[in-house]
Order: sequence, then C-alpha cells, then structure tokens
Amino acid sequence: PVIYLKDYQAPAYQILTTDLRFELNTEETLVTSHLRIVRAEGADTQAPLQLHGHESVELISLTLDGQPLAAQQWQREGELLSLQALPAEFELICVTRIHPAQNTALEGLYLSDGIYATQCEAEGFRRITFFPDRPDVMSVFTTTLIADQSQYPILLSNGNPIAQGELEGGRHWVTWQDPHPKPAYLFALVAGNLSKFEDHFTTVSGRKVLLQIYAEAKDLDKLAYAMDSLKRAMQWDEEVYGREYDLDIYMIVAVDFFNMGAMENKGLNIFNTACVLAHPRTTTDAAFQRVESVVAHEYFHNWSGNRVTCRDWFQLSLKEGFTVFRDQCFSADMHSETLKRVEEVSMLRTAQFAEDAGPMAHPVRPESFIEISNFYTLTVYEKGAEVVRMLHTLLGPELFRQGTDLYFARHDGQAVTTDDFVQAMADVSGRDLSQFKRWYSQAGTPRLQVRDEYDAAQQIYRLRLKQSCPATPEAAEKLPFHMPVKISLLDDEGALIPGTQQVLELTAAEQVFEFTQIQAQPLPSLLQGFSAPVKLDYPYTDAQLAFLSKHDNDGFNRWEAGQQLAVRLLQRLIADYQAGKPFSLEARLVEVWSSILEDEQIDPAMKSLLLTLPSEAYLSELAEVIDPDAIHQARRFLRQALAQALEAQWLNLWTAMDSEAAYQPTREEIARRSLKNTCLGYLMTLDNAAYLALAESQFNAADNMTEQQAALMAVAHSNFSDSAAALLDEFFHQWQHESLVMNQWLGIQASDPKPGALARVELLRQHPIYDARNPNKLRAVIGTFCQQNPVNFHALDGQGYAFLADRILELDRQNPQIASRLLTPLTRWRKYDAQRQQLMQAQLQRILQEPNLSGDVYEVASKSV
Ligand code: ARG
Ligand code: ZN
Repeated sequence: PVIYLKDYQAPAYQILTTDLRFELNTEETLVTSHLRIVRAEGADTQAPLQLHGHESVELISLTLDGQPLAAQQWQREGELLSLQALPAEFELICVTRIHPAQNTALEGLYLSDGIYATQCEAEGFRRITFFPDRPDVMSVFTTTLIADQSQYPILLSNGNPIAQGELEGGRHWVTWQDPHPKPAYLFALVAGNLSKFEDHFTTVSGRKVLLQIYAEAKDLDKLAYAMDSLKRAMQWDEEVYGREYDLDIYMIVAVDFFNMGAMENKGLNIFNTACVLAHPRTTTDAAFQRVESVVAHEYFHNWSGNRVTCRDWFQLSLKEGFTVFRDQCFSADMHSETLKRVEEVSMLRTAQFAEDAGPMAHPVRPESFIEISNFYTLTVYEKGAEVVRMLHTLLGPELFRQGTDLYFARHDGQAVTTDDFVQAMADVSGRDLSQFKRWYSQAGTPRLQVRDEYDAAQQIYRLRLKQSCPATPEAAEKLPFHMPVKISLLDDEGALIPGTQQVLELTAAEQVFEFTQIQAQPLPSLLQGFSAPVKLDYPYTDAQLAFLSKHDNDGFNRWEAGQQLAVRLLQRLIADYQAGKPFSLEARLVEVWSSILEDEQIDPAMKSLLLTLPSEAYLSELAEVIDPDAIHQARRFLRQALAQALEAQWLNLWTAMDSEAAYQPTREEIARRSLKNTCLGYLMTLDNAAYLALAESQFNAADNMTEQQAALMAVAHSNFSDSAAALLDEFFHQWQHESLVMNQWLGIQASDPKPGALARVELLRQHPIYDARNPNKLRAVIGTFCQQNPVNFHALDGQGYAFLADRILELDRQNPQIASRLLTPLTRWRKYDAQRQQLMQAQLQRILQEPNLSGDVYEVASKSV
C-alpha cells in the first residue's frame, strides 16, 4: 500500500501516559502496556482508535477500563488494530508476546550478541506492542524491565531510573521514567552484561549531567574519544544554538548488530559499534572523525528531533537535514571548514546526485512511500542539510540563529513540518520564502549555466545565470528555485576585486547580474563554498582552472578548480580508451600537480586532497553512459603516470611526512598521515620492489591503524600477489579478535580491483569471521564489492549482478532494510550500455518474481525496472 502526504489526518486519540513492563526471558518476552488515552479535541466521537502491530506480535489480551474487550469492539487487519465505541477517556491494558531472539530484521526488540536492544525508528515500536506508532502521538513513558540478574545486570531505558529491586529466581527489575513526552519511535531499552565509561557535564545553567557510555568489557578502552566528542558537542550546542541538555543522565550504548549508524532515543542513544568505538591502534583517522560527527549528530537530535519532532514521516528531513547541517558545522569548527566542505560536497555530488538522477529520486520532503525505511536517504539527509545551509546563507548567521530560536520556542513539545521550520525563518527575517520551499517539494539536481560578457567601454561586467532542472519521477516540469549563488570576481593577478564577493539570489529561470566600474575583464569564481546543490556549467579554459586552483579566494573553489581540471583530463583519457587510442599524459596536469607538491604554503591536509584524483564514482556520475572499464583504466593510467613523472617528489614528500613521534589525534598529525598515505598510494602504483619495501616498513612501523591500513591497502591492491597475501594474513592474525578491524580487512579485499574479485568475495563469505546476520559484515563484503569495485561488479559476464540478486533474495527474508539498501547498484541500470542494462534488468525482474517480497525490496525493485 502506498501512503501519501496529502492523506495526512491528525490522530483522533492522544496517549497521556504509557507504562510498559518487559519480562525478558530466553525464549520470549512478555510486554504489558498500560495506556491512559483521551480523545483529541474536536475529533469525531465515533472515531476508532487505530493501533499498529506487526504480524510477528502475538496479542495475549486487551482490557479497557478493567474489562476484557468485547469481540465486536475490536478488529485486527494487517498492521492495524481498530477499537470502536470508545469513551472520551479510558485506560487500555495490552499484553503481547514477542520473540527477540528470532528477530533478524533488527527492528523492534532484538538480541545483538546476547544484548537486548531496540530500534524503533521509524516503525519498529509496532514490533513490540500495539500502539499508535506515528510521530504525532506523544506520551510520557515509564518502563519496567525484568530479567535474569547475572545474564542481564544492566537494564536501561529512557529518562531517569526511579526504582529497582530483586526478585526470586535470580531475577531483578529496574523502572525508568522519561518526563518528556515523546513519540514511540524514540523509545529504547537495553539489557545485558555491559561495562561503562562515565563522565560528567555541567550545563550552562548548572545542571550536572551524568554521562555514560556502555559497551562490552573488551571495548572499554575504546570509549574515551566518543565521550570527549559528546562533551564538546554539548558545549557547542549551548554556544552556537543556545540549546541545553534537559535530563540528569545521558547514555550511549554500543551494539555490534545495527542496521544504520546510530539512533537518538531520548536519553539513551543506541550506536553501531562502528560509530562509537575508537582507539588509535584499531581505528583510522577517518573513523575517528565519523565517531565524533555521529556522536554529535545524535546529541543534537535532542533538540532538533526530540524536543521538536516530525508530524509525519514525510517531514523526516525536518529533523535529519537540520541535524546533519548542525553536525557538519560542528565538525567544521572542530577541524577545518574547507576540508569538511570538500568531503561533504564529494559525497553529495557522487552519491546524492546519482540518487537524484535515478529511479528512486524523490524530493527532500517526499509525497508518497511504500516503506519509510527506504527514505532514510542521501536526499533527505545530505540534500536536506544543503537546503538548511542555503537558508543560513540567505539569512546570514544572526538571522538564522534568531530563526532557530523562534522555531525551538514556538514548537517545543510539538510534532511539526518543514513548512513550520521555514516559517520561523521567514518570520524573523521578514523575507518571503515561499519560492524557496520548492527545494523541499521538487526533486532533481538543478543545472546552473553561467555565461558572462565584459563591456570595456562602459566598464560593466555581466553574469547571465540560467537555471533548469531535469524531470524526475514525481514531476516532468520544474519551477525555478530560489538559489543563493556566492561569487567573487578576481583580477588578472588573482586578487579579489573589492566589493565583488557577494551572494547573488537567482529566482527566475534566467537572470542577469551587472557589476559596474570593473576596470578589466575579470575572472569569476562561481558557487563559492558550493553555495547551492547544483551542477555548474561555465566555460573555463584549462588555463583558467589552473589559475583558480592557485588564486581563488575561496578554499573550496581552489580545490574544485584542480578537480575539474583533472576531471577534464580523465574524460579525455576515457574517450581515448573507448576509441582504442593509447593513453598519453598531458603536461598541464603534471605542472599543476608538481607545483602543489612543492608548495610549502599549502597545509598538508589540503595538499593531500588536492593531489587526490576524482573518484571512479564521481566520474561515473558525470558520465552520460558509464563505462566502468574505461573509467578504471583511465584513472589507473593517470595515477601511474603522475607517480612516474613526479616520482622523486612523491618519495621526498613521503619522507618529509614520515615521523617517529607517537600517535596523536591532532589536526596537524591527521594531516601529516593523510598526505603520507597519499604519497605511498601513488608510489605503489609503480610496481617497484623498493616501494613495496617502503609500504611494508610503514605497515610494520605503524603504531596506529591509519598508517597500517593504508599500507595494507596499497600492498593488497598491488600486483605483488605473494606479498599481498602475506600481509593480509599477518594483519588477520594481529587483529582477528577485533570485529571492526576485521570489517576493514574484509573491505580491503572486496574492493581489490584486480580480476577474480567475485571468487575472492565468495571465499570471504565462507570465512569464519564472516557473519551474514551482522549488517556491518554484509556491508564490508557485499556492499563494498558491489559499490566500490565497479570494474569487477560490472563484469560483462553478468556474474556480479547475479551474485547481488542472490544475496538480496536471501537477505530479504532475514533483514529487509539491509536487503533494500544493498539493492541500490542494480537500480542504476539506465546509466550503462545496452548489454549491461539488459543483464541488470534481468536480475531486477528475477527479484520481483519472488513471492512474498518485503515492502522494502518491492518498492525499490518495482520503481526501478
Ligand atoms: N534517526 C537515526 C539517525 O540519525 C537514523 C534511524 C534510522 N532508522 C531506520 N529505520 N532507517 O540519524
Ligand atoms: Zn539523524
């Protein structure tokens, strides 16, 4: 069944209080819910109460005001349980039986390595008990957990612990109460044998908050960084948004089985271990930064999501887009604004643009869905964050802050919409943002064409901006967007022409902006900081790009100019490969790369980014028709050619970045390691035994995972197959007891572009450390092979596609959310050649023929064929 935004109706009943009692037993769990319910003001007196319950939930009893419910008073159909003929106010007691040990979907209550955990967003609560499982029904939860004391010494839920005791037979109980009304999707419980790491934070108004991070005892030494990140996030939200924490305790629990990254349950976040555990020996710098940003993200949800939540799931970006924007700004403040922006834009332009161009394209606020889990997308999260960023750009930081203050004050305790968010911004600024709201309702990546002319006699420079947007499934015709285009004009020395750095507001399909008193033809720097999520088209010459890569006054655009230059060169190489012409290296890029390598002014982190070629994924997104072999070979050639042409410089720089100093997680040290690894990567393309020895020495000398893993990857993907096997083996023996490190080990092998990858992947699936029930393992092997090894996955024999379809069919019965996510690469068939199109479509058809497909996989497959 398809659900539409236009059909939204306010709930007829509200739940004042929810008392839950969980009896956790090995075979089953009994759940007793005690609800105090009132009919909503203005609701029809005949309106039924609609409770949601998944088919796996066994209904034991239903009692209304102390009386068992008469048969004619209730009806269960599909996921809905409807109660009729109800008084205006009543109490409902519902007893259900569930089987967490058999829950492989990891939604609702499940067991993760012997630990009970929940995931209720978006619609997991209905797998626990019957309840109005929709975000606009909020109530005060009290939760009692009862379990065996020795097996489950720790019993947690939302809010504050208010009572506890022991029972006969070695069982104990704890009662938790959360004073803040919340929707069911924010409910959580955890029971298990966990260790904890504690700290405190005192809020600006003097509330002393106990901070606890729970994990398995063996991981206790990997929690300090998450704790430090949490405290920094709490302080940042007070300073930047004026938001203070509102309970006396804040808990995070790490579990190994988790469908996503983490979950912001009120006062009790549950995290994928991959997003919370961090230790220099086992965690790369990139993973450290991910921990920091996810910890902050979930913390920021306490206001943007929990205190003010979503009216319905079409509004998901209200909390996710805004919270991603908040965590992006936090990370930028902690590290470097430019580096962070480069990462964000790279991800947006590869993955989100591809989504926006594919069959699952949808607006930031979708109009319809079959399965809401399919809409936890890059569009809702990352493009949603870009939309909030544009509001920030259009209003400026002060008005934006006034807008968020008004939004939080006006809607505290409410479930609201993206319109409400924009309205607060409109109210504080006095601006008309009605056109701006099209960013929420129209899908697709707009094109921005810029042309210019210079009138020397009048000293007038004109920029002509033209926008358009391709058709997407929800609409063929698009109305113009309200687009902030940040620009500067540079003179021929590369200096900013005074007064020309500004934000142009494009609102029409076509608009001309005039600059007067411009003494000579300027060079425009356009879309600075990537001020709008669009595809820019301006006819820069190669020489102008090279110039901008040195002189642009915007750090992001300096990087961007170098990237575009490399993109052009790679596109020419791709065409050469397809025409059967031999590759040749153009001198211009060597010059640019060489001057970057030598430039001592550029900080090492930026240098590392500047020297990294555009990814195969980005080149694929840009291609009219994706040719995975040509893209791979062209990029490989260019990497090798640059390695050869500048060999001595790479080695010098590697040596300069090598250091005996003990590991430090500081910005300077992260930058140093990053650049060192970039140099090693280039050198290792040369198939030279001396550099193999260098990589092996880096592997052995490393006291941290960042350098060890980069060395392993370089050797594992090289043509030195014996050394590769030996090093992989050594790494395995060193780290086989670290589940997260083993995910890296699996991923490095699954992404190896050398021929024969599918056979190697099949072997990995047989390996004892592999576990097909664990989403992190599935992502490391299947996700990596299908998304980060294009040249093998897209092999013309079609075996990669058949392999993926086999896995989807297997997984669909076990974990539909993961199955649906892994399906993504097959949905992109339209971008490939006729032969691959046919092979991919055939696998989609095969999936669709399966009876009893989950709604998750059905929605994605059926929209894609
Ligand atoms: N709200 C969580 C987050 O921050 C994600 C929850 C995803 N859940 C799901 N069923 N898809 O970002
Ligand atoms: Zn979120």
